[in-house]
Formats: sequence, structure tokens, C-alpha cells
Amino acid sequence: MYPFKPGNFAPRNGWYVAAFIHEIGEELVERWILNQPVVLYRKHDGEAVAVSGRCPHRHFPLGKSRRVGDAIECGYHGITFDARGKCTFVPSQTSIPGVYSIPAFPLVERGLWAWIWMGDPDKADEALIPTLEEIDFEVPGLIPHAFFAFEIDGRYQLLNDNLLDLSHLSYLHGTSIGTKTDAETPEVRDVNDRRLSSRRIMNNTEMTPILMELTDYRGPIDRVSGMDFFFPGFHSGIGDFRISEGQPGAGDYLSKGRVWHAVTPATRNKSHYFFAMTISDPQEIERTKAVIQKVLDEDILATVEIERIVGQLDEIPQELMLKSDTTAVMGRRILQAMMDAENADAV
Ligand code: FES
Ligand SMILES: [Fe+2]
Repeated sequence: MYPFKPGNFAPRNGWYVAAFIHEIGEELVERWILNQPVVLYRKHDGEAVAVSGRCPHRHFPLGKSRRVGDAIECGYHGITFDARGKCTFVPSQTSIPGVYSIPAFPLVERGLWAWIWMGDPDKADEALIPTLEEIDFEVPGLIPHAFFAFEIDGRYQLLNDNLLDLSHLSYLHGTSIGTKTDAETPEVRDVNDRRLSSRRIMNNTEMTPILMELTDYRGPIDRVSGMDFFFPGFHSGIGDFRISEGQPGAGDYLSKGRVWHAVTPATRNKSHYFFAMTISDPQEIERTKAVIQKVLDEDILATVEIERIVGQLDEIPQELMLKSDTTAVMGRRILQAMMDAENADAV
């Protein structure tokens, strides 16, 4: 499906963010991931687990069922599954048929996130999860904070496309985090087998509208803006703002931050979007939240509105791509190559 080959939706052999770790507790949380219902919960020993959210008996949602100890008792006829997916009880008979089990998915907590592997369990290598070092999680003086977990009415690749083309900052976010310079500045790219990285270095440039709200400084700045896309769904961003050469305080940071966007396919036209970023003072959380909500609403609007168009057209015409789409096209090709490899394995 658009923008991938017909019949291709999303790579399965990859670690996706299923939730922020603080979202997983004693309660059963139902979350659709890669077109499947999943239930997330935390066992009494503290381990976070993920199992299929569909009872194999008559498809009742296990996420809307009852937790009994560390197991789930289906809300319809009481068949019970433990945290590894093994059926432990069938009320209507003493023997448990061999087919009675549900998939349990590898789930790893790292940083602010719980990472799930929905693909071939033999390939679930934890070393494929971005390391905290790679995503710049522990910058002295900066505190990572989980801000938003949205469910978006739009296919996940629209969010990846958005994050892989930051020229949109100039227009979609022209009154907040962007200036005209974003779109005009060429990107420096770097790609390896884990991530695709893009940077815009903007020296001696104008301040962004939000930066003007944060500081009294009014003069030229040096900016670094960029994103590292860890396949298949995690974007680690950088936004550094310093006083330009020749100004009083040259080189001093006006603002420095890391942002993390996790994009997880939910269903064919819905996605999960987890947003986290650094703050330098816990007192800033509420104010930052209000500012960022406005910016993210703009990205969500673009995603939902494009889904409204592409979701309803009989045929989707080829996009008229420009140079500024290079990174996004590279990102799409990488995900398509992952799907091609999975399709080849399945033959
Ligand atoms: S549907 Fe779950 S026990 Fe019948
Ligand atoms: Fe954006």
C-alpha cells in the first residue's frame, strides 16, 4: 500500500516502540501494533510483557478481559493464558487442547520506551535497538521526559516522511520552530545499516519564533537541526542554538535539546506516535508541553489530512518529488528493502 509496493504494509522484523514504560502497569493495556491487537502489562515481579490481544477461542479481546495473578482470564468463557502465552485453564474441560496458546512478543525496556518485536522471534536481537548512547540520551544538564503518546488517524509512513524532511519546518511550523532558512539549507546525510542521518548546519541565521519567546537575545544565531532515523520507526533529533561569531557571548547556547519521535504502525491507516524530549528543569514541563503540543498538532494535521486524501482516492498519482525529498525517499527505500527481505524469506 502507498507509499510502498502493493500488498506491503510495514517491516515486521524490527523493534518498534509499543509504549512509554510508564504506561505499562498492572492494568491490561490493549494496543494495536502492525495490524494486530496486543496486550501490555507488568507482572507482579515488575517485568513488562506483551501477548496477543485476541483470544483464539472466539476472538474476544484479551485487553478487555481480566487479569488473574500474572495471567489473563478471557472475559468471554474464562480460558486463561499466562504471561508467556501458554494456556493454563479451560473451565469447560480438564484437558487443554495442544493448539491453545497465544503469541507472546519480546518486549525490552530501554530509556523511556518499551520496545516490541512482532516479527520472526528467532531474529529478535536486542542489539538492534538504538542504544542510549546512539540517541544522545544522557547529555549532562538535560533531562529526558516522555511528553505525548498519540494515536493518529493516518498511516505510519506519513509520520516517517514528515520527520525525514525537515524542510517543512519553514512552512508547517513557520510561526514556531522554523524559519525560511530551514527549507533553503541543503542537508548533510550519512547512512549505515542502523540509521539514516540528516543535518542542516545554519550559521549566522535568524532566530526561530519560539527561541525569541525563550530569550531576550536578538541577533544572528548558529543552528544545528537534524534527525537520525533508526529503522524501522525511531527518530532521534537534535536542535542546538548558539550565539553567532562576532556577537557578545559568541558560542553560548541559547537552547540545546534532543527530541525523540517513535512511530509505530497500528493498523493500515492508524499509527502510534510517541513524543519525548529533553528539558533542563523539571519546572519547565507544563510550559514546554503547551508549546510542543501546538507544533505537534501541525504535524498531526498534515498527517491526518494527507491520509484523508490518499485514503479516499481510487488511484494515488505518483508524487512529484524534489531534491528536498531525498532523505525521505531513502528512508522509504530502506523500509521497502526490509519488507522485500521478509517477503523473500517467506517464500
Ligand atoms: S472467546 Fe475467549 S474464552 Fe471464549
Ligand atoms: Fe514537524
